[in-house]
Amino acid sequence: MPIKQDCILDYAQTAGRRQYTRLIREHLAQKYDAPPLALVHSFGCQQNAADGEKLRGMLAEMGYGFTDSLEEADLIVYNTCAVRENAEKRVLGTVGALKHYKRQKPELLIALVGCMTQQQSIAERIKKSYPQVDIVAGADAWANLPERLYGALCLGRRSIKAADEEPDTIVENIPTRRTGWPKAWVTVMYGCNNFCSYCIVPYVRGRERSRRPEDILREVEELVGEGYRDITLLGQNVNSYDGGIRFPELLRQINDIPGDFRIRFMTSHPKDCTRELLDAMADCEKVSKHLHLPVQSGSDRILMEMNRRYTTEKYLELVAYAKEKMPELALTSDIIVGFPGETREDFEKTLELVRKVGYTALYTFLYSRRGGTKAETLPDPVPPEEKSRWFRELLEVQGKIGEDYMERQVGKTLRVLVEGPGKGEGMMTSRTDQFLIVEFPGGPELAGQFVEVEITSAKNWALMGRLAENF
Ligand code: 5AD
Ligand code: SF4
Repeated sequence: MPIKQDCILDYAQTAGRRQYTRLIREHLAQKYDAPPLALVHSFGCQQNAADGEKLRGMLAEMGYGFTDSLEEADLIVYNTCAVRENAEKRVLGTVGALKHYKRQKPELLIALVGCMTQQQSIAERIKKSYPQVDIVAGADAWANLPERLYGALCLGRRSIKAADEEPDTIVENIPTRRTGWPKAWVTVMYGCNNFCSYCIVPYVRGRERSRRPEDILREVEELVGEGYRDITLLGQNVNSYDGGIRFPELLRQINDIPGDFRIRFMTSHPKDCTRELLDAMADCEKVSKHLHLPVQSGSDRILMEMNRRYTTEKYLELVAYAKEKMPELALTSDIIVGFPGETREDFEKTLELVRKVGYTALYTFLYSRRGGTKAETLPDPVPPEEKSRWFRELLEVQGKIGEDYMERQVGKTLRVLVEGPGKGEGMMTSRTDQFLIVEFPGGPELAGQFVEVEITSAKNWALMGRLAENF
């Protein structure tokens, strides 16, 4: 999959940025004494959170400040998620409740962007039933967002439009306002070609397209120069990256960037998780020994129905190779409970696989029917209460495995990256290479540093410790 150069747009060069950003700035300066405030909220995955930082960057350039308070906001942007029905319901519920805010403050602007609004049916529903919404733009509307915001803000023009086609561009050089220091996200590829039968992502995020390696390397170099210490490479299917070089080589090149920092990546698809990738992980000292490798189910029959294109045998082989190469490796996974037609027997196979692998954490989801996907039409005879019982059972099994893993860390001295103030008074919070949370007594001057912490006890959500002697 070579990079299509014509799908790469430079935001800095678009008319939208040059012209409309300036017009909006001038308009806001005339209308408001102090910068008006925008509330930007992202639902869903880390890709969306990363997009939210770009939205903030664009709005800051237009002259907006930021708030978390609905009452204070002059502009509300919801960056939506479509992966499960619940996420969509939450957005619509929240938007419904905004009706009265708009009545009290008619100049308030409300914009919905992101995956959910990429669907034509949702855009039409909002157009008809949610008159309080001013702008609807799909997941890939970066280049024309300033123009549409200008229309709503300065001309009172409502602009409700899902993208006509699937997104197929990469927009480089969008100003970004990061909020997670010392951690930063770097998207390396967009879209997904896999069409897992339950998943809506390929329909709303479009086909896979990779950023140029030189753009990625430059971004990481800049971030490291600015003091970021934990870089997560993002993609719906990150290990199918192909920007002329493949993902293992990209990891090696990023690892060669000078500086003291960590590299993480997510999400990897088992079918594209090659030995080359695991070898690169093992060889690169900056690459965290943490692999998020969603298995989704432990039943080969269900994996086939899900169109995952691997078997549990192949998955377990990969896990064995990875553990052999990296004995300290932490594995995490996504699992869907209650896929249409899943039986008790299938579910028990999932429990068996979870026990075999020994994940440090699991992200578990009840199956949610998504319009337009292959699985939408499959018979689904198991009652929801039964699925919920299985779900709780899985949580219990994993809870015990996670607890044992945490207990085994007590007494060790671990290198952690300090992120900021912790939950308790005088405590700092940090992360190990395996992404476990460690809290310890310490001062705020440690934020952004790597330190060694002796682990003294384990709670189910975090490890507790104290700075090792030499610190
Ligand atoms: N229902 C439930 N879970 C889903 N996921 C994706 N689509 C669905 C769905 N329709 C889960 C998968 C994926 C994670 C991001 O969300 O486990 O890995
Ligand atoms: Fe969805 Fe499967 Fe693509 Fe992940 S790999 S985004 S689950 S279609």
